[in-house]
Amino acid sequence: MTKKTNVLFVCLGNICRSPTAHGVFQALVDTENLNEHIRVDSAGTGDWHLGHAPDKRTSAVASERGYDLSDLRARLVEPADFNDFDYIIAMDHENMRNLQAMEPDGYRGELCLLLDHSLSPDFDQYEEVPDPYYGGGDGFGLVLDLVEDACAGLLTHIRSKA
Ligand code: 4NP
Repeated sequence: MTKKTNVLFVCLGNICRSPTAHGVFQALVDTENLNEHIRVDSAGTGDWHLGHAPDKRTSAVASERGYDLSDLRARLVEPADFNDFDYIIAMDHENMRNLQAMEPDGYRGELCLLLDHSLSPDFDQYEEVPDPYYGGGDGFGLVLDLVEDACAGLLTHIRSKA
């Protein structure tokens, strides 16, 4: 890889799903010694939680699997992100529609759903990372399962293109 590749994960609030993807993908980048080559960030399409740390439930599940999200703070996705990021990765179809509405003509990067990069057949039924915020059960664990699997696939994809 020569030029630095910039990767932005986007969800609604930027306190649950996209910070999870941010932390998981950053851990992969760290493990593979790719920090000189890949920059990772995350943002939200909604403004309710600007400046907030990730949701406590998200942080707890991430921490159990060894991911530290404590430095992350929510921000809004902005038009300049289309200049700065080579990959803009949406967690669900609604995020995708919001991003497509902002996408400038001639954007040269890739705008896609994270789960387009899923690897495991266990997750074939999922096109999007379900919003866990108001859900019960193990929604946060499922987010992490889906994100870990697809982030591995995404890194392989980015390396194949670089
Ligand atoms: P996220 O989850 O998009 O994965 O960060 C949500 C967080 C907050 C809200 C919705 C979804 N909210 O409505 O405040």
